[in-house]
Amino acid sequence: MQKPSKALAAIKKSIAKEFVKTKARIVREKKRKKSSILEKGYLLERIERELRETIRELYALDRVLPLRLDEPPGHVPADISVPCFDIAKIVAESPTAVAGALAKAILIGSGTLIAAAEAAGPFVNISLSRGESFGEVLAAVELAKERYGRSAAYHGEVALIDYSHPNIAKPIGVGHLRSTIIGESLARIYEAVGFSVIRDNYLGDWGTQFGKLMYAYERWGRDAEIKKDPVVELKNLYVRFHEEAKKNPLIEDEARALAQKLEVGDKRLGKLWLKFRDWSIKDYARVYALLRVSFDIMGGESFVIDRIPAVLADAKERGLARTDPETGAMVVENLDGLPSFLLQKKDDATLYMSRDLAMIRFRVELFSLARILYVVGDEQTLHFRQLFALAEKLGYLKDTKPEHIAFGLLFLGGKKMSTRRGTLVELDELIEESVEKAKEIMTEKSAALRGRELLRAAEIIGIGAVIYNDLRQSRTTNISFSWEKMLNFETGSAAYLQYTAVRIASILGKVDGRRRLPKNPQFEYPIEFELAKKIAFFPRAIERAQEENAPHYIALYLEELAQIFNSFYQSISVQKTEDDNLKNSRLALIRAVRIVIENGLALLNICVPKKM
Ligand code: ARG
Repeated sequence: MQKPSKALAAIKKSIAKEFVKTKARIVREKKRKKSSILEKGYLLERIERELRETIRELYALDRVLPLRLDEPPGHVPADISVPCFDIAKIVAESPTAVAGALAKAILIGSGTLIAAAEAAGPFVNISLSRGESFGEVLAAVELAKERYGRSAAYHGEVALIDYSHPNIAKPIGVGHLRSTIIGESLARIYEAVGFSVIRDNYLGDWGTQFGKLMYAYERWGRDAEIKKDPVVELKNLYVRFHEEAKKNPLIEDEARALAQKLEVGDKRLGKLWLKFRDWSIKDYARVYALLRVSFDIMGGESFVIDRIPAVLADAKERGLARTDPETGAMVVENLDGLPSFLLQKKDDATLYMSRDLAMIRFRVELFSLARILYVVGDEQTLHFRQLFALAEKLGYLKDTKPEHIAFGLLFLGGKKMSTRRGTLVELDELIEESVEKAKEIMTEKSAALRGRELLRAAEIIGIGAVIYNDLRQSRTTNISFSWEKMLNFETGSAAYLQYTAVRIASILGKVDGRRRLPKNPQFEYPIEFELAKKIAFFPRAIERAQEENAPHYIALYLEELAQIFNSFYQSISVQKTEDDNLKNSRLALIRAVRIVIENGLALLNICVPKKM
């Protein structure tokens, strides 16, 4: 391999700077003292701790216990349910027996938070004391505000998220949009449980396709045209190449030769490559600005190519790969029962796989990662299984847990959605259309909003609709895209949640009362306790979304919360509440609901407009 071209060296240098800067941030964050938001922890955490203690005493155990509080299903008249299956395994008794013993022990030993405990089969159902425990929930929200729900559970651990990653000079696809939306939400959720997060945009900026593009560019390309609409024009050139190649297959060889020249550091081609890269990134910036995402590292596959020979040699030395004497290619066979795959073709060109292999090694070494998430469509499932298996065998993973965060396709009206011309412009248009539609609805619904205020709100609602539509559905299934559902203000949409938060703000603006939770908060109806209890479960929704890499748990949680609030709102008037203490308690309650909706939406990367 020759010396890399100046262009490549320049890119590498600028990316290296981003890595260095990010590393410095991570080191700073690790050193920072672990600060918990609440000294004693959230209500559910405290109860969990108490119960663990109770169980340890009951069975004379001396170990960390798996114990998870759940929300009981609607028909169970209790606030919390404790499944006893895991404990039962540890103490070698039946779950029912454990539940019975635990319920008794709780009743004898519990403090002021628990009012009742009853065994029901393998579960213990717990009712919380009304005043004490729910007052505590509201106090926690008031104290933590925009940090309510967060924890420091994973403080000091680092997660790298590889997401968005469009392919330079090629159209950004619907898949890249999904990756961007899901990846950004996961980044926020991981941060919320204490991780230091690295946002890494691993651009597809290397590979043999550049040979074709360069051939086409040199023949037919015109800079003035391209600058106007880079990815569209570059894509057209690419398409033209394939058309010409049908007539004249020889140009394939010429393209291959160009690719090889680029790979070994040709100066002129290097410059060209750099131009394509810069043009594309400028173009992507529009979509990233609309979605309000930004990356620590705008890296890419080109960054690791000179680290590939070392990993290939490594794989060969350890007998994991061999060079096929017939084809001259380097193959990996019989790895954990997976289909064989190539690490190198017979020419020296690097492959997607070898670049990923070198990159995972580099990332793990530099950052000592706990997690690395690849947010990529499910068509690459096999690629990642092979990558992880090989990296593991080579010892590159150390203590890192790699995960492929797969997602399905997006359907519009029953058809697979792809951007028709496959352009960025279309993604812009998609979002603009959503904003436009939001504007229409808003003009109808709330005539009070005009001019810039209307525009601002429509933007937040329109973008929120696109993001939320993606995140409220389980990411592993194919999802559908429907304007009606997305911009329905009544249920199942971001607009519904935003509207609920705005409505609360307007009540708070109208009602006179204290801005602080009363010393002895007081409630009257079950629905009020219901609401407070739901608020207590917010940290749990975040935990679950993180554990299962599933932002939709937050969306579902928020919809349930909003639903309870809306029943509350239909039956109770805060404004007309006579008793001062009760009124102030209710004000605190709805303030808390609003905070939780805003915090939850922020984890999905969605804002709430001031008015709507
Ligand atoms: N650029 C690739 C594509 O569009 C996705 C890259 C995913 N990340 C990775 N480390 N392989 O298919």
